[in-house]
Amino acid sequence: MSDGPDRIAELEAELEQAREFMFQAAKLAEMGKLVAVVAHELSQPLLGIKAFAQILLRRYDDDAFISPKIRLIVEQAKVMEGILDGLRQYARRQGVDGRGVDPRDPVKAALTLFQDRARKLKISIEYEDPGELGLVQGNLGHLQQVVTNLLGNSLDELESQGGGQVLIRLTAEEDGVLLLMADTGPGVPADLKEKLFEPFFTTKEEGKGTGLGLSICSDILKLYQGNIRLLSDEERQSILGDRYGAAFAVSMKAVKESVDHPDSE
Ligand SMILES: Nc1ncnc2c1ncn2[C@@H]1O[C@H](COP(=O)(O)OP(=O)(O)O)[C@@H](O)[C@H]1O
Ligand SMILES: [Mg+2]
Repeated sequence: MSDGPDRIAELEAELEQAREFMFQAAKLAEMGKLVAVVAHELSQPLLGIKAFAQILLRRYDDDAFISPKIRLIVEQAKVMEGILDGLRQYARRQGVDGRGVDPRDPVKAALTLFQDRARKLKISIEYEDPGELGLVQGNLGHLQQVVTNLLGNSLDELESQGGGQVLIRLTAEEDGVLLLMADTGPGVPADLKEKLFEPFFTTKEEGKGTGLGLSICSDILKLYQGNIRLLSDEERQSILGDRYGAAFAVSMKAVKESVDHPDSE
């Protein structure tokens, strides 16, 4: 009989792993639902706030005291709408879009978003426009989440160091585009490298990190046949020298030439 104590211990370990996996999957699924419901519920009263503010604005348009304040209400309501849209997109992750994205666009969007924070933290971001690289599979919102998560992580690490540099580089690969994001932060300790992409894995204090960023990046890229990984120390040094502590590589697949593309003959 092969069912010795070793085999039993092995099965127990497998069961424990499966349990842990189910638990994480259930947490994620629950969270997706919760996010969708909250975003939907909040968008209703928000529509009301915006509509009534716009009515007031029409009435008090010439009132120098009141009208700028109402404009602010309308503006802030629009910002909230944008946030809720983002949440709904996140919850509706299977909404894959096949048209493709210029890979420079999500980078530009993330740079715009983090410019101020980087400047305040004395962090310089090095990025050179690589020129035309063709379109990659994905949609702007999704790829923007990927770049934003990575850049946000780099800034978090550099913030704790009181400043530093980030490098963002886009290069053409045989079947798509490679994005490198590296920073001069402390890097990832060897014993944590395996865990980085697990949902809810974070080394940040409560309230700062959710541990979802990298796992979402990885889920999003899978939707589009891409992937994300942390470069090994050897790879990082051979590609970028020994200036950087951590470097992530994101591979995005090129959009295949399609017959119904308006530009193809
Ligand atoms: N650029 C980086 N340098 C060093 N460690 C990093 C970097 N990016 C991510 N990490 C590590 O990976 C963990 C998980 O990241 P993430 O999934 O984005 O979640 P969060 O940012 O909420 O902690 C971080 O808590 C940090 O320990
Ligand atoms: Mg993060």
